[in-house]
Amino acid sequence: MKSFIVALAMIVLVMTGSAFASAQNDKADKKGILVVSFGTSMPDAKKAIDNLFYSAKKAFPDTEVRLAYTSNIIRRKIMKEQNLNIPTPASALAQMNDEGFTHVYVMPMHIIPGEEFDDIRSLTEGFASVKGKYGFKELKLGSPYLSSIADCDIMADILVKRFAKNIADKGTTIVLMGHGTPEHIANAMYSQLQLSLDRKVPGRFIVGTVEGAPTIDDVIVRLKHDKGVKKIVLSPLMIVAGDHANNDLADKNDPESWYSILKAAGYRDIKTFLVGLGEDETMARIYTSKIKDMMK
Ligand code: CO
Repeated sequence: MKSFIVALAMIVLVMTGSAFASAQNDKADKKGILVVSFGTSMPDAKKAIDNLFYSAKKAFPDTEVRLAYTSNIIRRKIMKEQNLNIPTPASALAQMNDEGFTHVYVMPMHIIPGEEFDDIRSLTEGFASVKGKYGFKELKLGSPYLSSIADCDIMADILVKRFAKNIADKGTTIVLMGHGTPEHIANAMYSQLQLSLDRKVPGRFIVGTVEGAPTIDDVIVRLKHDKGVKKIVLSPLMIVAGDHANNDLADKNDPESWYSILKAAGYRDIKTFLVGLGEDETMARIYTSKIKDMMK
């Protein structure tokens, strides 16, 4: 009798165990998109992030789209000032796992696959290696805007269109400020973009970076080489026209801003165009098409 009860108990255990296991496997598919930005605490600059976020929402109306910021400084500032909790990519993925998402597509808003992107990739690869209850059935990561030579050509086309009026105005050079990622091979994408721009409109754009290379000194070398430069337009080569654009690029009162440095170098006619690339509709279209490719 005793052995019969033990056997019965074992059968019940095995049955519920297998029922539980198959319930995990048969879990209904639930797809989600996680868009990831560095973040910004400037409400006006956030328009660029919103544009990409809402264009993803619009392109995938049946899929939940969530937002995460990589910058803890910005996340804490927003928490303090706006009482708004924007998650890190790590906590957003954990939350989506908790809520039963089975397929998640992570899409960074970054220009180059630099240091920030490496961190997001390390995180998604870590999550993707988890099997069973705490794993996703599918977890993919999209590529930043400048991830290939073809990407640089596409970006150059966007920039030529964006600054068409300035290009038509002879004697105008457009100086773009990228972020830059020092000691990272992806920093070379700025030079690749320069090559694409020079092929399309020779000598009309100069690409520099605030934290990597080319530096503002490199920008000045190119400007001086071209004796025909009469006007300069300064603009960020960043998704968001935030802190770097407003301070390091355009601040007239800061002697170390690019605006002031170029004034000191003898350029009198300098204008600024402080709109994040994320506000560009073509940029938004590329963003959603990169997500679409991932979900195939
Ligand atoms: Co920075």
